[in-house]
Amino acid sequence: MNQVRKTSTLFVLLIIIFLLLQLKKSQCIDERYLGCEPASCGDGNYVSFPFHIMDRQPDYCGYPGFGVHCSSTTTNHSIIELSHNEFYAIHEFFYHNQSIKVSNLALSNLTDTNTCLPPIENLTLNLDHSKFDFGPDKAELLLFYGCNKSARGPKELLNYQTCFANETGSSSGYVLFGTDPNSPLATRVCENKSQAPISANEYKETEIGEKRYLEALNSGFLLKWKASNCSTCSDSGGRCGTSHQYQFHCYCPDRPHLKCCHHKNQASCVGTLVYKP
Ligand SMILES: *[C@@H]1O[C@H](CO)[C@@H](O)[C@H](O)[C@H]1NC(C)=O
Ligand SMILES: *[C@@H]1O[C@H](CO)[C@@H](O)[C@H](O)[C@H]1NC(C)=O
Ligand SMILES: *[C@@H]1O[C@H](CO)[C@@H](O)[C@H](O)[C@H]1NC(C)=O
Ligand SMILES: *[C@@H]1O[C@H](CO)[C@@H](O)[C@H](O)[C@H]1NC(C)=O
Ligand SMILES: *[C@@H]1O[C@H](CO)[C@@H](O)[C@H](O)[C@H]1NC(C)=O
Ligand SMILES: *[C@@H]1O[C@H](CO)[C@@H](O)[C@H](O)[C@H]1NC(C)=O
Ligand SMILES: *[C@@H]1O[C@H](CO)[C@@H](O)[C@H](O)[C@H]1NC(C)=O
Ligand SMILES: *[C@@H]1O[C@H](CO)[C@@H](O)[C@H](O)[C@H]1NC(C)=O
Repeated sequence: MNQVRKTSTLFVLLIIIFLLLQLKKSQCIDERYLGCEPASCGDGNYVSFPFHIMDRQPDYCGYPGFGVHCSSTTTNHSIIELSHNEFYAIHEFFYHNQSIKVSNLALSNLTDTNTCLPPIENLTLNLDHSKFDFGPDKAELLLFYGCNKSARGPKELLNYQTCFANETGSSSGYVLFGTDPNSPLATRVCENKSQAPISANEYKETEIGEKRYLEALNSGFLLKWKASNCSTCSDSGGRCGTSHQYQFHCYCPDRPHLKCCHHKNQASCVGTLVYKP
C-alpha cells in the first residue's frame, strides 16, 4: 500500500516537472534569435545578415565591414562606410542575389538638376580591403575640375560642361563618360580628375551629355557582397549571425544551430557556407 502511494507521488511529481519544463521552453525564445530581428532606419529597407544596424542590432547579427548607420537627417538613409571615411547611402538591399545599390552620401542631396555639383574631392571608390565587389554593370563617370578657364574649353568639350560649388562660389569643369574619346582632351586642360562609379544599364554614354550625369550619380550603382549565404538558415525559420571568430551561426527560436533550424528534412540543412575573411 505504502509502495503504491510512493510510486504515484513520484509519478505526479514527474508530470509536474515535465509540464514546468514545457512551460519554460515555450517562454524562452533564444535571445540571439530575438536580437537579430531585421531592423530598419526608417527608409523602407530592412537590415539583416550580413548587415546589422550598429547600436541597434548586436554585432553577432552580422560580419565586420557590414555595419550600417542610420542617417540623422529626415531622409532616414541606411549608411555604410565602404572605405576609410567614404560613406555611401544604401538605396536597396537585394538579399536574394547578395547585392546592394548605393550612391556616395555627398551626392544624396542632389535633386535639382540646375545646381552645381557639391565640392567633390574624390569620388573614386577603392574596394581593395572591403567585402564588396562592383556589380557586372559598372561604368564610370569622369569628373574634371580645376580646368583652365582662359582656354575657354575646346569646342569638343562644350557639351560636357558642369560646375562645382565651392565655399566662395563655383568653378567650372567637365563630366564625361569613362569611355568617351574626348577624355584625353579634358585631361589636358584640367588639373584634376575624379572617377565616379555609375550603372551602365541605366545610363548610356549618349545620354550623359545632357545633364543627366547628376541623375546618374544620384541613382547609384550595384555592389555585390562576399559573405555566407543565409538562405538555408532563413528558409528554415532562422536568423543568420556569427559567434566568436566570426563563425557562421543560424540563430533559431530554441538555440543557435550550425546551419539551419531543426527541420523534418535534415538534408535541406546541408548548405554551402562560404566566408573568406
Ligand atoms: C523617418 O523616420 C521617422 C521615424 O521612424 C518617420 O516618422 C519618417 O516618416 C521617416 N521619413 C521618411 C522620409 O521615410
Ligand atoms: C544561396 O543558396 C541558395 C540555395 O542553396 C541558392 O539558391 C542561391 O542562389 C544562393 N545565393 C547566392 C547569392 O549565391
Ligand atoms: C544634405 O542636406 C542637409 C540639409 O540641407 C544637410 O544638413 C546635410 O548635411 C546634407 N547631407 C550631405 C551628405 O551633404
Ligand atoms: C582619388 O582616390 C584614388 C584612390 O583612393 C587615387 O588613386 C586618386 O589619385 C585620387 N584622385 C585624386 C584627384 O585625388
Ligand atoms: C539583384 O536583383 C535585383 C532585382 O531583383 C537586380 O536589380 C540586380 O541587378 C541584381 N544584382 C546583381 C548583382 O545582378
Ligand atoms: C588638384 O589636386 C591637387 C593634389 O591633390 C591639389 O593640391 C589641388 O588643389 C587640386 N586642384 C583643384 C583645382 O582642386
Ligand atoms: C590656359 O589656356 C590659355 C589659352 O590656351 C594659355 O595661354 C594658358 O597658358 C593656360 N593656362 C594654364 C595655367 O595652363
Ligand atoms: C571657387 O569659386 C570661385 C568663383 O568662381 C573661384 O574664383 C575660385 O577659384 C574657386 N575656388 C576653388 C578652390 O576652386
